[in-house]
Order: sequence, then structure tokens, then C-alpha cells
Amino acid sequence: MPLIPEEKIAETRERTNIVQVISEYVSLRKSGVNHKGLCPFHAEKSPSFNVNEAKQIYHCFGCGKSGDVIRFVMEHDGKPFLDVVRELAKRAGVDLPEPERSPAAERARQRSESDRARMLQLHQLVCDFFRAELASARGERGRAYLEKRGIGSSVREAFLLGYAPPGWDALVRFLEVKKIPAELCERAGLVRARENIPRQPEAPPSKNSHFDLFRDRVIFPLVNPQGEVIAFGGRTLDADERTPKYINSPETLLYKKGENLYGLHAAKGAIRKSGRAILVEGNFDVLMMHEKGLSETVAPMGTALTPSQVHLLHRYTPTKVYLYLDGDNAGYAAAARDVGTFLDEELLSYVALLPQGEDPDTFVAQHGREGVELLLSRARESVEYFCRYAWNRSGGSVPERVKLLEEEAAPLIRKVKNETARRRYAEQLALVLDLPLDTVGKVLRGGRAAASVSTIAKAVEPATAAAKLLPHELELVALCADHPQLLTRLRPLGVLAVVRHPELRRALLELAERTDSVKFNANGLAEALDPALRPSLIEAALSGRYLGVSDPERALSAIVRKVQGSEVLEQLKKALSEARAAGDPEEIQRLNSRINELNQQRLGLKSGN
Ligand code: GTP
Ligand code: MN
Repeated sequence: MPLIPEEKIAETRERTNIVQVISEYVSLRKSGVNHKGLCPFHAEKSPSFNVNEAKQIYHCFGCGKSGDVIRFVMEHDGKPFLDVVRELAKRAGVDLPEPERSPAAERARQRSESDRARMLQLHQLVCDFFRAELASARGERGRAYLEKRGIGSSVREAFLLGYAPPGWDALVRFLEVKKIPAELCERAGLVRARENIPRQPEAPPSKNSHFDLFRDRVIFPLVNPQGEVIAFGGRTLDADERTPKYINSPETLLYKKGENLYGLHAAKGAIRKSGRAILVEGNFDVLMMHEKGLSETVAPMGTALTPSQVHLLHRYTPTKVYLYLDGDNAGYAAAARDVGTFLDEELLSYVALLPQGEDPDTFVAQHGREGVELLLSRARESVEYFCRYAWNRSGGSVPERVKLLEEEAAPLIRKVKNETARRRYAEQLALVLDLPLDTVGKVLRGGRAAASVSTIAKAVEPATAAAKLLPHELELVALCADHPQLLTRLRPLGVLAVVRHPELRRALLELAERTDSVKFNANGLAEALDPALRPSLIEAALSGRYLGVSDPERALSAIVRKVQGSEVLEQLKKALSEARAAGDPEEIQRLNSRINELNQQRLGLKSGN
């Protein structure tokens, strides 16, 4: 094993500024002798991570992690000691002795290093070519398209957008002139040998041996966070449905699918500054969000979100990620699917729902930055979102909810390592699933609730026969009657979970499912209920008391939050009296502060309306 002399390691440490290096991962603020920031090693809301420049060490008072700059990079990036020392030495300009290798290994290393360098050069050259094409007379079609999609010149520049001309050999000929070996271009996937081209109705001219992969497409270079162009994507300008909308470079030694995020090079500064990232689905969504000033936006480039993409994002995003997905069922399902990946990575994530049928591109184009910020401010933490989503998918009976808890929610929450966070999730689960907190706790600790399902059912399901409709249920009916478009939002916003009356819930669910028509049928609803309850429902539906409300969705959320607020308070108060009985001072204190917090929030809610 080639060792690095001790004095070289010391020199590297001395010539490296710990504050500068850590600043690339964590946004730090000077505070007395230290620099402070949010700890990248555990989830926290107020900074307890300190970096001391004079002593060249970091320490987190929250999780206890500490060390020097080498340890930091090792822990953060999960890299071995020697690799980190080499990297830092290179940055600091410290010469290290080359590790000894066998001549064959050394040749292989040089080959792969120069291969990578040649590949990078090629990508840079091709990127410049596509950009020049976009600017040229031939690029008119590309420019017109970007114009039509509302992408202005600064975003075009920042994303190095280009245009691949039609015809079969514009790039081939350019690369020939530049004397780039065909073999390299082929390996990059940018041109293909003639025999590898499937027969097409409009065959390429036979005199050429190679043909362009990208033809008549807007080009989206994929730039890594270091600023290197490592692949290309191209969107067709052809409305013909048979041509694939996007094609991407194949995997190369520079580019592996699912390991990059589109737009990260342009977003990383804004992400660090604001501490948040926004994740969307499409390339155009990214461009439009940046166009409107939401520069923290990135996309996974056509694949389902992978763990390595989340890991990459976490390197730049200490606090939280917003999933800002298409307002359709696929978008909602994607959000539910990705929760576990974020939990594994211990990165806090929120789901912001777009209105039905909109994607980030159309939404931000129409409502601008403010509209997006409003949606983001209403985002729900992913776990909560996930549970509501699952709840709404199920029929909502007690056994179904218990099953959901045991089979879907608990396995997710068990991934959460932080004890306090896990308790919060338990509370949230109890609330969302409307199950007793102690049952949830038991299941999270690995027990089963199934045996006591019928007892739970008795405890949480009110006797419905002569039950009245609850005040908030009538409010919901009144609100939906005045703003029927809300019906399509009942499921995604988890509203049905606060409707206690089973028949009303079932009837609303049915209305919510008919996403095509947004008619409110008060009679239909009333008929689903016991005759004694009908008059109050009809009265609510006809009252018109929400007609003047300008933001009905906000009103809807307010009703839901108010109900949940009082329910969680009840649960917490019950837990508090149990903790008192058991004489557990830590738990008493924790519960008290949670109760205070909630009371504050409720006051805020009241005055906010
Ligand atoms: P517009 O329809 O122009 O708004 O494009 P978009 O970027 O919004 O794309 P869309 O929402 O349809 O798809 C999301 C992402 O999936 C795209 O940005 C691409 O990265 C990827 N994608 C879409 N269609 C294809 C395809 O046909 N092939 C491949 N490989 N990827 C695709
Ligand atoms: Mn789109």
C-alpha cells in the first residue's frame, strides 16, 4: 500500500482552509470565533455545527461529530482517507509522491485518465458546436422554439442550450474537420456507424459511414457540479408522435444514468444560499423555474429518482428538498414512492402539490415566483403526505388503517434514526391515520396492533347511528358547494381523513373520484346519509357562506389543520397525563413544549384568518 509521508499530510492540513472547504458543503455564518451552520450529519433546524478556523476543527454540539478537514470530507463524502488527502493536497498545491504501481497498472491508469480527458474535451467541443448552431442562421428553428417556450437568453446561456440541425451529418462533418477519431465519437454515442442505424423511412445518404444521433433537436447539455459537460439530451421539434420526445446520450465513462441531476451546476449556488432544493420532473420545468427566479430547481433527467441522486443533492442541500411534481396521479404516486429514499438519506423532504393537470413549467409561467412560493409554503412533509395518500387510497376502515400502519408506514418510519424525529412521526401517524398514539408507538417498536383492532375500532369510530354531522364536516360541505373545483383536491390534500362520518366520507370520496366533472351534487350527498342528517347538510350546501372566499384551497387547508390541531392536542394531553403518572420528567417536558408549540400555531392560525 503506497503511504503518504506524515509530513505531507500535515502540510496538506496546514495549507487547507477548513472554513473554505466546509463552506462548499454547508452554508456557514461567522459567529464570534467560530463559523456556524446547520449540521450536515444530522437533521436540525437551528445551527449547532461549529467550525473553528484557528484550531482547524469542526464540532457539532447536536450530534457530537467532530474532527479536522480530512475527517470532514471522509465522513461527508464517504471516501477513504488516502483519496481525501490526495484531493486536498491537489487543491492546496502540495506535491505528493506518486503511488507505486506495476508498469501495467500505471499504463492502464494513464490510459483511463487520458481517455476521460479526451472524452471531456470532445463533449466540450460538441457543446460549443451545438451552441454555435443555435446562434447561426440554421438555428432559427431552435431559437423560435425556445422563444415560444419562454426561455430567455440568460437561462439559455447558463444551461449552455444548443441546437442540433436536421440532416444526418452536420456533427459528423464538424468532427471530421476537427480530426476527432470516429471511434471516440462513437463511444460517446454522439454519432453512430451506418450499420448500427435502424432502417428508417427517410434513409441517411449512403456515402457517409457515420450519422448524427441528435437531429433537429434542442440540445440540453448535462453539466456536472464541477462544470464539465458529460452528456447531452435532445428534445425533438417534430410534433410527430412517432419520434421519441427526448433522446439522451447513452452511458459512457463520463455519464451513468441515474447518477446526475439536470440543472445542478446552475442551481448549486442558490441551493446553498437558501438551504433548500426544488425537485421537478422535466428539463423544461427546470428551465422555466430558473427563468422565473427559482434557481434552486433540478430534475432527475427522465429516470425515477435514485438513491445516488438523492445523495448527490444532499451534498448541496443541508436542510430540505421540495418535490414539486406534476398535478396528476403519476406525480402524486412518484412523491409517495420517493419518501423512503429521502428517509434513508436523512434528508427532510416536502411535497408541494400542483393543481390537477398542471406541471411546474405551465404553473410558474402563469403564476410566477409568488404563486410557486405559495404552493411551497403549503407543502407537507413527505411522510405525512405519504400516509395521507395511502389512507385515501384505502377505504379508510380501522382494519385498513391498521394494515397501512403495519405494512407501509411503520417500515418507513423505522428508517428514521433520530429518536425525537421518530416520535414526531409517530404523533403524525396517529393523527393522519386516526389511531391511538400508543398503538402507533407499539407498532413502530416492532409489535403488532392487529390483535386489538376491534378494541381500537370501538375507541376511534364513533357510534354513527344517531350521530350528528360535526361542525367542521358541515363547513367542508359548504366550502365544496361554493367551490366545486375543490372536489378534485380532497384526496391529494388528505381532507377525507378528517371526515368522521363514514357515509359522508364515502359519498365525498365518490365525488372526488370523478375528476372529469366538478359538479357538486348536494342532493346526492344528502341521500347517502341518514334522513335525520339531511336537512343540516342541505342547509350548509346552500348557505353560500364561502362564495366570497378568494383562496378556497387555503380555506380548505385551514379547516383540516384546525381539526387536526385539536385532535393532536388531545392525544398529547393524554400522553402527558400518562407520563405524569409514570413520573417521566424528560417526556413530560417534551410533551409540554410540543403542546405549547401547537397552541402557538393554533393562535397563529386564528389570527391569520
Ligand atoms: P415538454 O413536454 O417539452 O414540456 O418536456 P418536459 O421536459 O416537461 O418532459 P416530460 O414532462 O414529458 O418528461 C419528463 C422528463 O422525462 C423529460 O425532461 C426527459 O428527461 C424525460 N423524457 C421524456 N420523454 C422521454 C423520451 O421519450 N425518452 C427519454 N429517454 N426520456 C424522456
Ligand atoms: Mn413539460
